[in-house]
Amino acid sequence: MLKISIVGDEAAFDQAASSRIISQIVEKQDSVIGLSTGRTTGNMHRLVVEQYRRMLFDVSRITIFGLDEVMNVPRSYAGACYTMLKTEIIDGLGLDDSQFLMLPTESDDWYTACIHFEEEINERGGIDLLILGLGENGHLGFNQPGTPFESMTWTSQMNEELEARIRKETQLPSSIELGGVTLGIKNIMHARKIILVAKGANKAEIVRKMLEGPVSTEVPASILQLHPNCEFLLDEKAAQFLNH
Ligand code: GLP
Repeated sequence: MLKISIVGDEAAFDQAASSRIISQIVEKQDSVIGLSTGRTTGNMHRLVVEQYRRMLFDVSRITIFGLDEVMNVPRSYAGACYTMLKTEIIDGLGLDDSQFLMLPTESDDWYTACIHFEEEINERGGIDLLILGLGENGHLGFNQPGTPFESMTWTSQMNEELEARIRKETQLPSSIELGGVTLGIKNIMHARKIILVAKGANKAEIVRKMLEGPVSTEVPASILQLHPNCEFLLDEKAAQFLNH
């Protein structure tokens, strides 16, 4: 039985998602929490910071990491996952650099960078909570349709719209390749707890395929049907095509 939570509107959605992150921190003070960037998650991160300022729960032992990163742009670029997470949540919680793990945006040796990232997460006990956004084509992180379910942290492709936007914003010459470095599907499935978050009508069709279609590499997020502890948190618009 899939655990699907449908909340009314965007404000309720952001509230529900942020309270799940806070509960995780309060329940286990040395939690390792993975976050996703994008339009879906910015507000929930800011709400965590707002609540932190009121409640001052203990964040001195948590680790936060990013699920994925844009390749070959400066880390300081506003659309780099590092900078997004730093401005949305890391600085607001006053976390130390050692509490914030990210894949690099630039590297001469991506293979080693990926292994190192996995090792750092494992040394801290593995992933307690992973918040996953959902691509309109069903991607998780940068694991695009067709990615094998046994993939580990790796360098992948970007979806075309995102690539076009980043090229425009960074004025990157076409000679420089873009891409996304990301936890693989296998790493994702090893998280002890997952919350897949999707809001808005543009996600309604892929939400239906993810939850009601077959488990298939053509819809990477469909694998989450098989995770033993995954909650699908949706707003009404994203849930509008579901049959149950
Ligand atoms: C991007 C990121 C993902 C994110 C997803 C959803 O490509 N690589 O980590 O979860 O797309 O983004 P949005 O919430 O903006 O729809």
